[in-house]
Amino acid sequence: MQFKMSTEPITAIASDCVIVTHTEDKDMLLGLAKEIDEKLDHRISQLIAEKEIKGRFGEVTILHTWGKFPAKRVLVLGLGEEDKLTLEKARSAYAIAARKAQSIGVRELTVAISQKYKEIWNPVDLGQAIVEAIMLGVYEFKPYKKKEEFESSIERIIVTVSDISEKAVEAGVERGQIFAESQNLARDFTNIPANKMTPSILAEKAKDIAKKYHVDINVLNQEEIEELNMGAFMAVGKGSSEASKMIVMKYTGAPDSNDVIGFVGKGVTFDSGGIQIKAEKDLDEMKGDMAGAAAVLGAINAIAVLKPHVNVIVVIPACENMVSGHAIHPGDVVHTFSGKSVEIKHTDAEGRLILADAISYARHLGATKLIDVATLTGSVISALGHHRTGLFNNNEEWAKDVKEAAKISGEKVWELPLDDDYRELIESDFADMKNDAGSPAGAIQGGMFLKEFAEDTPWVHLDIAGTSDSLETKGINPKGATGVAVRTLIALAMRFGGN
Ligand code: BES
Ligand code: ZN
Ligand code: ZN
Repeated sequence: MQFKMSTEPITAIASDCVIVTHTEDKDMLLGLAKEIDEKLDHRISQLIAEKEIKGRFGEVTILHTWGKFPAKRVLVLGLGEEDKLTLEKARSAYAIAARKAQSIGVRELTVAISQKYKEIWNPVDLGQAIVEAIMLGVYEFKPYKKKEEFESSIERIIVTVSDISEKAVEAGVERGQIFAESQNLARDFTNIPANKMTPSILAEKAKDIAKKYHVDINVLNQEEIEELNMGAFMAVGKGSSEASKMIVMKYTGAPDSNDVIGFVGKGVTFDSGGIQIKAEKDLDEMKGDMAGAAAVLGAINAIAVLKPHVNVIVVIPACENMVSGHAIHPGDVVHTFSGKSVEIKHTDAEGRLILADAISYARHLGATKLIDVATLTGSVISALGHHRTGLFNNNEEWAKDVKEAAKISGEKVWELPLDDDYRELIESDFADMKNDAGSPAGAIQGGMFLKEFAEDTPWVHLDIAGTSDSLETKGINPKGATGVAVRTLIALAMRFGGN
């Protein structure tokens, strides 16, 4: 998809479709929409007067211009009530509009940035949000399906900026492309089924990114993982015929600094549950149990392009949780890289086992701050549904940075507690801790377990089990993988070393 800036009058730009906006509480059109309305003999105003166009959030009305000006169609996009409008809602609305435009064969789309919104948001953020909306909104994952004859995709976007700082909007447009491309890459990785996304293939994908952007990479094989005594990580992959891989990447944007942010992503390429096998229903969804790994890969992809002055290491424990004669048994005791022992009470609570060693390893490699991203628990879905990612931490200040980055990105998070009161849940009769205590506070149990391995390093854990996958096409999200957390992670790195 190509983007072009334009300062030409909106009514002079030729394209397949131009998007203008309208809000619910206004009975008249504003700014550029008004100019277009005049060229169309006030037909949009007429539809507003007749209440066919109400300006409701996500409402899309398409009018043909029949040669009244060079654009073929006008898409009037409802943004809902003006007071309730946020950049995140604008992203959703533009995504809906772009999807609709694509579905009717629009290849070249013009977006008119209204003067009004330039007053509310800074032009960089606005340009970025609109581009993200379009690129994320029209994303489809169909590599294995025969293309239907009438299918086409949006190829060119013209962003018009009549009277504001064109340069600022353009900077946002460029940034938005990198953010959205990286999120779409994470979506692709997550949507790819387990037979085509094994731990070895995931490592190859990481190598492709590293090679393209000159990021250091080292992939540890099974012998090396064993030599390092990563007993918890080794245990989970034992039941699979696919070899486990520990993927380590390093981006050095601040060579003179000792500060290193560690991004750790859960990379279970398929989670059958192990011996305590999951129920049959929706088991195919467990191909997405490496969405955390995909998110950190998407983020490092963008960071390598945007080049913030910050150091980032990525650690991805990649394996399959399968059932076989080699699989771990409930009751097994394993010895982690940190030296702490773990009793495996549940073979389906495998994410925390592999992340325990990955978190310790990231610290060992010099991470001074940590964030892990994982589809860790079904329990977080019971608590927060599919609307918010669960956020846990051992350090308020670091959590605040992550929350700010999430807010700027429009990715919603909600903090859950990790007080010492919950420590008893992971106490074991046979080892230093156990990986499951049954039903109460399941998401918190996962967090408490990981906290043991972050030790005194500031750490945030994002449980994306509910937000990494969308059951329906809605706002910026297509059905399937969402690529959640990519934008938050990029924004976090930019916050520390951005320009
Ligand atoms: N991968 C799952 C969590 C998950 C559930 C992700 C639903 C996406 C959608 C994880 O490994 C798991 O199975 N967790 C169990 C742990 C329990 C057995 C202690 C859970 O939360 O149910
Ligand atoms: Zn599991
Ligand atoms: Zn899992």
